[in-house]
Amino acid sequence: MFKKLTLSAITALVLGAAGALVVGTSAANAAGGAGHIEDFDFSFEGAFGTYDQHQLQRGLQIYTEVCASCHGLQYVPFRTLGDAGGPQFSEDEVRAYAEQNFEIYDEELEDFRPAKPADHFPANTSAGAPDLTLMAKARAGFHGPYGLGINQFFKGIGGPEYIASLLTGYTGEEKEEAGVTLYENTAFAGGWISMAPPLYGEDVEYADGHSNSLHHEAQDISAFLMWSAEPKMMARKQAGFTAVLFLSVLAVLLYLTNKRLWKPIKYGRKDD
Ligand code: HEC
Repeated sequence: MFKKLTLSAITALVLGAAGALVVGTSAANAAGGAGHIEDFDFSFEGAFGTYDQHQLQRGLQIYTEVCASCHGLQYVPFRTLGDAGGPQFSEDEVRAYAEQNFEIYDEELEDFRPAKPADHFPANTSAGAPDLTLMAKARAGFHGPYGLGINQFFKGIGGPEYIASLLTGYTGEEKEEAGVTLYENTAFAGGWISMAPPLYGEDVEYADGHSNSLHHEAQDISAFLMWSAEPKMMARKQAGFTAVLFLSVLAVLLYLTNKRLWKPIKYGRKDD
């Protein structure tokens, strides 16, 4: 009797959970209307992937010359542009970059002055555009299959892929709604975004002579925004690898210790 009861309780629980999953999935699909995300190859993918310093520098150039006019990057201090694992500029380069490109309002001076390495990139809300610091972590590119997100185990969350797909996803169609111009975009949920296409290809001239096609520019700025969202990713991966290595050695040692401790009992030799 007792057994039967527990069995039916377990069955009910499992069925209930499965039901909730199905309902949740279809609700997520209904709400999404999610766009099409292309799977870009990034150097920082996988357990051992690292940022490409030159790509981050190119991405910063695009941010500075194109995106900064509308988007802030207010959680990034200029000095981190010199950190290992980032764009890794020299101290002098960081100082010159901050001074030449940004002005900061100084409360003590009650006036604007050139930015210093200790300042953050300024916020920018003039165009109603969201801050880009954490954007690569705030959006997911991969939701499937069936909204379960299983793809994310293999491909990552897909934030940078989302940004790159957004920048390359304009179809060229426009419409006006309540006085706002909307641009059709295959990656944007809902299909119409109020940001005009910021990149067309050949928007910037790269110092390192790298291709400035739309595809490459989109990939470079997305890599840079991944760095701004997770500047310590490389240190995190390294710490994870060390921990796994350490635990593997520890597991072998514990296995051998266990074998040795139980040997006299298993084989009945009391004098061992
Ligand atoms: C002319 C101003 C302008 C420029 C330049 C601009 N943006 Fe935007 N951006 C916007 C606005 C406005 C929005 C909000 C759009 C919306 O929600 O409909 C936006 C939204 C976004 C979003 C968020 C989309 C989402 O899922 O909510 C991303 C990512 C983005 N921009 C990236 C960029 C990048 C990268 C650049 C530089 C290559 C750039 N933008 C240049 C105005 C701009």
